[in-house]
Amino acid sequence: MKIKTTLTTLCCAVLACTAFASTANAAKIGVSMPTQSLQRWNQDGHNLKDQLEAANHKVELLYAGDNDIPTQLSQIENLIAANCEVLVIAPIDGGSLTQVLQGAKEKGIPVVSYDRLIMNSDAVSYYATFDNYKVGQIQGNYIVDALKLKDDATSPKNIEFFTGSIDDNNVNFFWGGAIDVLQPYLDSGKLVCKSGQTKKEQVATQNWSTEEAQKRMENLISSVQYGPQGVKLDAVLSSNDSVANGVTNALVAEGYNKDNFPILTGQDCDKPSVKNIKRGLQTMSVFKDTRVLADQVVKMVNAIVDKKDVPVNDTTTYNNGTGVIPSYLCTPIVVTNSNLKEVLVDSGYYTEKEIK
Ligand code: BGC
Repeated sequence: MKIKTTLTTLCCAVLACTAFASTANAAKIGVSMPTQSLQRWNQDGHNLKDQLEAANHKVELLYAGDNDIPTQLSQIENLIAANCEVLVIAPIDGGSLTQVLQGAKEKGIPVVSYDRLIMNSDAVSYYATFDNYKVGQIQGNYIVDALKLKDDATSPKNIEFFTGSIDDNNVNFFWGGAIDVLQPYLDSGKLVCKSGQTKKEQVATQNWSTEEAQKRMENLISSVQYGPQGVKLDAVLSSNDSVANGVTNALVAEGYNKDNFPILTGQDCDKPSVKNIKRGLQTMSVFKDTRVLADQVVKMVNAIVDKKDVPVNDTTTYNNGTGVIPSYLCTPIVVTNSNLKEVLVDSGYYTEKEIK
């Protein structure tokens, strides 16, 4: 019922956007995305381009190879030189754009930070993202419920932690939301982290890399002796799907299967993870519908171009070091095997075949 309401809201949002779109003056919009090697950013870029073009804007969409910071810097420089009227940027390293964005500020080009916050730059006008703290809370609460940690009779459960790239400001929120939920159980001994690695810096994964996550999980398996016949691993908190995929690869290689798989969280509903959820090799993911985010960004860009009030719903949470950036936070949705068809297929996000 709740999901149906959400889906109806999503459909209405898309329709509302189309209606809104036609009122904007046409403008040249520069879009800079971090990498083409993760599914979500391909989807983000293309949804955004399509929706901006449907609103009559001219769009320059550029990908910085595979998370290549110098490429992103020079691409942004080019978008500024080409006199784009608004820039939409998802940074690789949130702290690396201060200097290049000085150029945007000097030319009076508004910058919308997309999904990840650009840090230490007063050129950033707005931020559009999902409620990232809530993403972490959803993952933490999922583990609490799945392991029945609230029950007094529950015996201690073993957990390991994985988060993302430390240069991504979102990690502070994903990790913060999850650990705020789980820390009390670590403190009470209901949750035990046998590796002792419970600090954000210890559990980070550079560039959100699947391979890095796989290596770290393999190391944990050998140092703690986790295994189907070894030390029981009850849960792995992973902040996203690309990292969860690495964890799954290491666990499957160690002999884990759907019957003994630990609870494993994720985020994005990337296709490999959705398939793993169907096969019992990941437990949940948090869906952040890239169509909804693109839709919101188009509304913001249109309002900027039309010099109208820009829609935001959060003016307290996201300080980028130069002050709070007015933000719009979209709502994330939990996806498990029991609702994935409804949320992902029935809403038209994936075809049945794509996630077979
Ligand atoms: C995004 C996540 C994504 C991760 C890796 C984060 O900034 O919010 O959705 O999984 O980057 O690309």
